[in-house]
Amino acid sequence: MSTSLYEEKKVDPKQRRESEKGIWKSYVQLLFRAKLPWAWIIGLTLFYLLNTWVTLQFPEYTQKILSGNLDDEVVYEAIIIIIAGIILAGILNYISALTRYKIDMSYRNLIWQRLMFSPLELYNRVKPNEMVSRTANDTKTVSTILGSMIPAMIGSLYGVYGVITQIFDYDYRLALGVLVYIPVYIGFNIWYGKWRFRTNKETHNRLSVLTQFLSERLLSIPLIKSFAMENKEIELGKQNLLYYYRAAFRRAVVDWINNPLQGVLNLAQDMFVIGFGIYLVSTGAITIEIWIAFFMYVGMLWGILESYSMLYTQIKQSQGSTARIAELIDGDLEQYERERPLENTTNDILLNHVDFSYEEDKKIISDLSFRIPYGKTTAIVGPSGSGKTTVLSLIQNFYSVDQGEILFGNTNINDFHLHEWRNMFSYVAQDSPLLSGTIRKNITYGVDRDVSDDELKKVAQAANALEFILDTPNGFDSDVGEGGSSLSGGQRQRINIARALLRDADFLVLDEAMSSLDSKSEQAIGDAMNKLVKGRTSIVVAHDLSTIRDADQIVVLDKGSVESIGTHEELLKTSTIYHSFVEYLTRESNS
Ligand SMILES: Nc1ncnc2c1ncn2[C@@H]1O[C@H](COP(=O)(O)OP(=O)(O)OP(=O)(O)O)[C@@H](O)[C@H]1O
Ligand SMILES: [Mg+2]
Repeated sequence: MSTSLYEEKKVDPKQRRESEKGIWKSYVQLLFRAKLPWAWIIGLTLFYLLNTWVTLQFPEYTQKILSGNLDDEVVYEAIIIIIAGIILAGILNYISALTRYKIDMSYRNLIWQRLMFSPLELYNRVKPNEMVSRTANDTKTVSTILGSMIPAMIGSLYGVYGVITQIFDYDYRLALGVLVYIPVYIGFNIWYGKWRFRTNKETHNRLSVLTQFLSERLLSIPLIKSFAMENKEIELGKQNLLYYYRAAFRRAVVDWINNPLQGVLNLAQDMFVIGFGIYLVSTGAITIEIWIAFFMYVGMLWGILESYSMLYTQIKQSQGSTARIAELIDGDLEQYERERPLENTTNDILLNHVDFSYEEDKKIISDLSFRIPYGKTTAIVGPSGSGKTTVLSLIQNFYSVDQGEILFGNTNINDFHLHEWRNMFSYVAQDSPLLSGTIRKNITYGVDRDVSDDELKKVAQAANALEFILDTPNGFDSDVGEGGSSLSGGQRQRINIARALLRDADFLVLDEAMSSLDSKSEQAIGDAMNKLVKGRTSIVVAHDLSTIRDADQIVVLDKGSVESIGTHEELLKTSTIYHSFVEYLTRESNS
């Protein structure tokens, strides 16, 4: 793999501005996609309002007490207000956390549901690691905003209103002086928020590249060791860590600089309130108690404005998260409910001038036509990369063809109910890991009925898997480890074959890997496949000579087109690719 992915890139400012547009829109859209716990969000907002009301009482009581009003009533009320403030703060934290968890869950459920129904094409574009990180981390960013910052903001809007009416009530000149500052303050924070957003985004990107690098390399440890690349990888890792460090460092500087800058702004403001306040007190326009209460109110106002600027930064920062979540939940889903029910499953499948590409401008299958007769075995052979696996995917409608059509009887397969269509196949993929759990669970995956031990044994026997299964400590109840890691590649493949056998669908689709199995397990798989294929409609990509030889027809693929079609004997005469393929297989099995 090229290392360019991990290099530090400079971003064009114009491009960056373009990409920062549309954040608010995507936010609102995202808001209404999931089933959100609105009752909780509204309840939380009401608590914030209550909390603001309580906080607004503080300066008033301070002023009363400072001016010597120590009536029982005033003192008791002041105490109640203080205690209520403390209790409310606690309750707010608690409810806000619960609301955030509920929102997290809603988005995660939505994403999971959408992922299950998304076409494979999405999985070519977004890698599993990335999907996990979006489901786990990006949802949290969104829930923090919805489940904590926006309710708090609504609460504090009331606070702004309360403070402004109060300070105007005290002295309009002083209040006007304060208000003039608000635009300056907001302007500063918008400017600063953008700056901070960028450094934050950069840090996020570097971190995700770093995690991708680490997880990819850790999965390839045998490769690294066998090619003695440890030192090279250490260097690459160092580079990545350095890039991340630099980004995080820049962000820390930007974060830190906020304090002194904000301090200077606040200082100017405080100087004004103090200076002008002293003048007003000295002329007797206001009392010293009012001046103090005024000072407290203004402090409150700055606190609120500061929280707005934080909200603004946070929302800007979450832009990446919303875009990343949107990519997972906004795409097209597979269409299951199509017009035609599948009534007759005994037809031939016909590929008719099919073109297909995974990515634009890179045709993988071109003008491909052949028939897969019902009740017969069709073997597909061809060089690596010639499109064998792709053809199997197209037949099962994992992707739709770009040009041409695939017919079943006289109907385009795109018209059949998708689940019904796919249910018609038992598929053993080329490279399919197992699910963690027991061997039994893996063999019976996707089978809705109870499966007896006898039946299990029968399919395992037919897949040449029974022997090694019984050799494991717990037989069918042995754990296969994550992805089936405690079994060998050949053993995994045979479990997959046993599953396909148990499913017993009309069409058997096998994609046998040209694997580096030892000849004994290769033989075992070959035998298993051979037994499996007989007397069934099968489409097999095989490397086992006996399976291929016995097939009713063999399709030789080359660069996504049919090179030739025929039986073993016919092709030996007509196809040079086939001829050399058979020579190769014979040599292999004799060696
Ligand atoms: N998910 C994908 N996204 C983009 N290109 C792909 C994808 N899968 C396969 N290709 C490309 O399509 C071509 C055909 O791949 P395919 O897997 O069908 O070959 P194959 O004949 O099954 O090869 P092999 O014998 O090695 O399994 C290859 O050039 C491959 O790079
Ligand atoms: Mg393949």
